[in-house]
Amino acid sequence: MIPLVDLKRQYLSIQKDVERAIQNVLSKTDFILGEDVHAFEKEFSQYCGVRYAIGVDSGTSALELAFHALGIGAGDEVIVPVFTFYASASTIATGGAKPVFAEVEEDTANIDPDKIESLITKKTKAILPVHLFGQPVHIAKISAIAVQHKLHLIEDAAQAHGAEIKMQNGEWKKVGSFGEMACFSFYPGKNLGAYGDGGMVVTNSEDLNYQLRLLRDCGRTEKYKHDVLAYNCRLDTLQAAVLRVKLKKLESWNELRRSNSNLYDKLFNAIGIKTIKIKDFALPVRHVYAIRVKKRDELAQYLKENGVASGVHYPIPLHLQKAFSPLGYKKGDFPVAEKISEEILSLPIFPELQSAEIERIADLIKKFYD
Ligand SMILES: Cc1ncc(COP(=O)(O)O)c(C=O)c1O
Repeated sequence: MIPLVDLKRQYLSIQKDVERAIQNVLSKTDFILGEDVHAFEKEFSQYCGVRYAIGVDSGTSALELAFHALGIGAGDEVIVPVFTFYASASTIATGGAKPVFAEVEEDTANIDPDKIESLITKKTKAILPVHLFGQPVHIAKISAIAVQHKLHLIEDAAQAHGAEIKMQNGEWKKVGSFGEMACFSFYPGKNLGAYGDGGMVVTNSEDLNYQLRLLRDCGRTEKYKHDVLAYNCRLDTLQAAVLRVKLKKLESWNELRRSNSNLYDKLFNAIGIKTIKIKDFALPVRHVYAIRVKKRDELAQYLKENGVASGVHYPIPLHLQKAFSPLGYKKGDFPVAEKISEEILSLPIFPELQSAEIERIADLIKKFYD
């Protein structure tokens, strides 16, 4: 069986380094906010090209803390794409604010920058674009809207570690360095994944850095001195130690994901299978490789019967999720997202996937539609 994500193949390629890193933490026993957490925060902030990185226990916590640090809560609205993972919007609501869904682009499945401005009200406080599937959003247009309407801009970069955007001056810059804050997830299957849960908020703001450090660690300024109401959602030292090993490989793994995607693209173009379009300004990191097809569920079943796992990201757009029913949206409100969710299918794209496996998968898909 070719799995959708193969964490075992990756582990075997870094086993010695990971075991040494874990053993090192065990021998030091600095399990909470230990040396590896601080070192990883420094290395990850440098990798993203930002001043500060604050390690937390999940991408969900990263988003919750970001909204909390900006004082976004009851009575406020945050604009978020309707086609993304649940946590992009649930964290707005669990903090007391209202998620306001924006339609996505037909060709990229990312938030449609032209659909944002009409959603802005007096209550709008922030925009949360999501770099979905590892492809950067049109940040220049979205930043301009945020600046014009004096809104906070937070990037949900949970799926996009290392993705880059071409600036007007021709230089490339990593996602996570555009918003006031950006939130990452280190869920195991992510491009940079821990061996458990993990997350990070990055920012250039000294003030937000200070606040986020208090918010993740019981509001603590020193032992038994707690200045603000806060959470306990620190990144574990053991996870940070694993992530430090894996960060060194991230660029080469992202490159392998891109070359795997290029091969898929070539094979699918030849047989007329619709893929996700990559914009000229974007260097994607291909967290998910998705195609758009008719008879999606039948194709998934056929692939499974022939030893290939696939996934659906995402079968239900957020406005139709039960959890968001109090917001009052209905079927038909977001026709593009609804159509994408019926047609989209994710194929294996992990870095260690072999060309022969990609060719086999493309061949099976060709046979299914012949
Ligand atoms: C776009 C997006 N945002 C947020 C999250 C939440 O991250 P976590 O699962 O680490 O809480 C995820 C993770 O799946 C995600 O894909």
